[in-house]
Amino acid sequence: MKVYNTKEELQGALSVIRDRQESLGFVPTMGALHEGHLALVEQALEENNWVVVSIFVNPTQFDNARDLERYPRTLESDVNLLETVSKKRIIAYAPTVNDIYQGNAKAERFDFDGLENEMEGAFRDGHFDGVGTIIKRLFNIVKPEKAYFGEKDFQQLQIIRKLVEKQKLNVKIVGCTIHRETNGLAMSSRNTRLDIEHKDEAPFIYKTLIEAKEKFGIESANKVTKWVVSQFAKNKLLKLEYFTIAEISTLKEVKRKSNKKQYRAFIAVYAGSIRLIDNIALN
Ligand code: PAF
Repeated sequence: MKVYNTKEELQGALSVIRDRQESLGFVPTMGALHEGHLALVEQALEENNWVVVSIFVNPTQFDNARDLERYPRTLESDVNLLETVSKKRIIAYAPTVNDIYQGNAKAERFDFDGLENEMEGAFRDGHFDGVGTIIKRLFNIVKPEKAYFGEKDFQQLQIIRKLVEKQKLNVKIVGCTIHRETNGLAMSSRNTRLDIEHKDEAPFIYKTLIEAKEKFGIESANKVTKWVVSQFAKNKLLKLEYFTIAEISTLKEVKRKSNKKQYRAFIAVYAGSIRLIDNIALN
């Protein structure tokens, strides 16, 4: 499998693919790949002749320098994992910060019609400006027909859809279902940083989401939210940061349920020092 470190080399290879009129899918990642990423790559391979996987820990989306420093960088094992999926039709792009930002690693400011202010946006200052900045740059470099994102970061997925709409970018965004461990824990690069105690307790998050979904069928959003808060108050190992039931297009917290709207429950929890997020479709 080819791994390119500069956009010039990558674009050289991609121009050959375009000349042959073969289709190109794209899976942007920050590396530390797990089965959830591989499922995105597999879906992209089913729908395209070639798939570019970018592996880049994007500095402009971190609001915490320590988190950026400690983010796992495992290029060699990432490449090995990708090769288990396909040796022939995947192209890896692992640029340096300079290749992407040319010495000016600053985020552009975006207006995502308020999506950026809800949930993750309220707790991670400037995070979605950083995500918008890197995705816009990567789309410009790779120019894929389709790009694949996991629903685990559902807010990010909606923001990327908004970015594409507002900036009139010519790429189809494909949302892919959440990949879970057999115990229900949503797959995440952060899971490898959980100690045994917190790893054992973390499936409580999804278990609570499932019960919240059942309750949402018969109770108000407000009552369900209070119930979730009370469940976490009893848990000694997991600290709830937020639980929100929101309408999926605006991501605004639901005040009164409507049969015509679609809702999801979103959660962020600290398991020790590791922050985990998850979400579930409610109707
Ligand atoms: O979800 C991620 O891993 C990152 O936010 C992304 C989309 C690759 C942008 O850096």
